[in-house]
Amino acid sequence: MIIVSGIQPTGSLHLGNYLGAIRNWVLMQDSLGPGGRAWFFIADCHAITLFQDPAELRQSTHQIAAALMAAGIDPAKSVLWNQSQVAEHMELAWVLACTARIGWLNRMTQFKEKSGKDREGASVGLYTYPVLQAADVLLYKATHVPVGDDQKQHLELARDIALKFNTDFGRELFPLPEPTIPPSSPRVRSLRDGAAKMSKSDPSDQSRINLTDSEEEIRNKLKRAKTDPEPLPTVVDGLENRPEARNLVEIYATLAGTGVADVLAEFGGQGFGVFKPALADLVVARLAPMNARYRELLANPAAIDAALAEGADRARAVARKTMREVREAVGFLGR
Ligand code: TRP
Repeated sequence: MIIVSGIQPTGSLHLGNYLGAIRNWVLMQDSLGPGGRAWFFIADCHAITLFQDPAELRQSTHQIAAALMAAGIDPAKSVLWNQSQVAEHMELAWVLACTARIGWLNRMTQFKEKSGKDREGASVGLYTYPVLQAADVLLYKATHVPVGDDQKQHLELARDIALKFNTDFGRELFPLPEPTIPPSSPRVRSLRDGAAKMSKSDPSDQSRINLTDSEEEIRNKLKRAKTDPEPLPTVVDGLENRPEARNLVEIYATLAGTGVADVLAEFGGQGFGVFKPALADLVVARLAPMNARYRELLANPAAIDAALAEGADRARAVARKTMREVREAVGFLGR
């Protein structure tokens, strides 16, 4: 089992990113048997498909690296690096761009969303983004790729590209990567509006719990989180049309490692005056140790750079090997 996944450096990190992606990476890493390996990278090359201020990109890369290490990504089990340090990602992306068909890319819904009304003004990189993503996973011969729902289409494209490459060149060079959408990752909602995602771009800081929030801030935000006046239901169906209540219960269930039904069995019939402080205790207990480690790591960016450079060296060794096979398959001379 070879697990590969990437995350874009996004600046502020919150409970939504943590429960949605980071925590699953750690769980997958820890469930690997002997000989299994996980390859996790920070997708800085994908980030620049939309303009990034260079100083902010550097800072965001440090932040996400520190958050991943603080959350438990362990160099003994996983390789962690930033994509741009391993040039083979871009090298393979070119070859695969010659395998992928324009019609396939034209069907990508994320490009349509991100380019919006001004498609002619979008970067070429934004359009070919899914080809780079295919290169990211195929370079390491990934068998499993943990991604959110929104990335499933890109993974299906990676499978199509791998299959066409193998067929065109008559060899089983790339295994077909399987998207694994973790069942235990709730779509964490804004604390102010159960219909919106928890997001760093929400203008209200009250809408999200940042990984850097103090205990007091966490407790205050949860105390003020939007709810309804009803007590919690005793069965899961009772959460229907109560998006704010559902969100808080799901956060609790995920952090406690139980199901929504178990949480309702414990708290059903009780009001938010009881549930919110219990939830705050749990969030604080889970985030506080990570938070402390995160701050410690971020205080030493040179150590983060060194860790990423070491990860990049390990990734490059495998990437070079795959590229030798690819070059030979395609008929390129040299090396
Ligand atoms: N596109 C992914 C996202 O925005 C990030 C990403 C880049 C990725 N390359 C990847 C995820 C390869 C999985 C595998 O979330």
